Amino acid sequence: MIAVNDNFGCLPMSYLFSEVGRRVAGFKSENPEREIIRMDIGDVTQPLFPVVAEAMHKAINDLTCSDSFHGYGPEQGYLFLREAIALHDYKSRGIQIETDDIFISDGAKSDLGNLGDIYSKNCKVAVMNPAYPVYVDDTIIDGRGGELKNGKWSEIIYLECDPSNGFLPALPQEKPDVIFLCFPNNPTGVAIEKKELSKWVDYARNNNSLIIYDSAYEAFVRDERIVKSIYEIEGADQIAIEVRSFSKTAGFTGVRCGYTVVPRNLKGTYSNGEAVSLNSLWNRRQTTKFNGASYISQCGAAALYTEEGKRDIKKITDYYLGNAHIIKRALTNSGFKAYGGENSPYVWASLADNIDSWELFDKMLKRFGFSSTPGSGFGSAGNGFIRLTGFNSRENTERAMSKLK
Ligand code: MLT
Repeated sequence: MIAVNDNFGCLPMSYLFSEVGRRVAGFKSENPEREIIRMDIGDVTQPLFPVVAEAMHKAINDLTCSDSFHGYGPEQGYLFLREAIALHDYKSRGIQIETDDIFISDGAKSDLGNLGDIYSKNCKVAVMNPAYPVYVDDTIIDGRGGELKNGKWSEIIYLECDPSNGFLPALPQEKPDVIFLCFPNNPTGVAIEKKELSKWVDYARNNNSLIIYDSAYEAFVRDERIVKSIYEIEGADQIAIEVRSFSKTAGFTGVRCGYTVVPRNLKGTYSNGEAVSLNSLWNRRQTTKFNGASYISQCGAAALYTEEGKRDIKKITDYYLGNAHIIKRALTNSGFKAYGGENSPYVWASLADNIDSWELFDKMLKRFGFSSTPGSGFGSAGNGFIRLTGFNSRENTERAMSKLK
């Protein structure tokens, strides 16, 4: 029999959202008469915008004619989309990111895991605690986790986030090589101001660390003091990779399209000390292991940069933010301490008696008929919390929250 990657044997049960889905399905099959409202995974519910659908229909038509047919696309993504991103997401905001710094992906999750291919197996990784589980799970699969002791991996540096620090972690005592940061944060829903994020950029510059900045939720930022891109901070292009997605912004969870910025100013070193550009390594990795996002999804994504597309993004993110406000208010009125939900679609909540997260998940499911994501699935510091998502429809959100009364 084939020898397998031992690191899989170290992974916790199943992937967090698969486990939540399994438990919800189990409850549903035992209680077929009960209505269950999904408030767990951050999966969007509102349809694609007409401008996107039109662009995708046109793309399909292109593929049906020999004159406009597209086979393999560029592994980095089509220039029309990379140019639109560089212009609208960066240059128009005064940030010098060029098309060659941008790589189109099939979504943030894949790239957040795949980036581990380009840094050394010996790199020490730091994650916020709690954090989106992909950072830790991928670190374990790649063999950088060490051993699990008391809910923590021995080789991972945890950046503790709790109510006492407003869920904004302190700079680490021990130096990490790679630091995963996510703002607006999944799961806590907390966003970060420029002054605060500047500390991390300075830290990374002074310590030769690489920041992998997950800004999948930047479109939910409404407050001008809050950072949307890490490259708003001077010098960040020398230490940070930024990962983004159209999933939550424009209903692309099923379509699959996102992008990752690996600035050409970002350098690393081989073990022999020779310097190398991370952009060239990522390009090499992508050209070898990825054939690009589909032409159809990239045409759909490009339509988001039209005036109509931008208006629709604002409208849909306002709608989901409205849901998050409803959730936060309902939880607060029911005796929970609720965080996030401003500049973010997620609400993070706990009860005073510090009940275990899975127990809380079970109670809410059985008593109120809606699911949540147990905070402990995001790391040991998440225990006692649940996360609710603003991505359901307004009607379902109101119905679920009315049950709390
Ligand atoms: C979440 O619920 O945290 C996200 O939807 C999961 C994901 O984006 O993969």
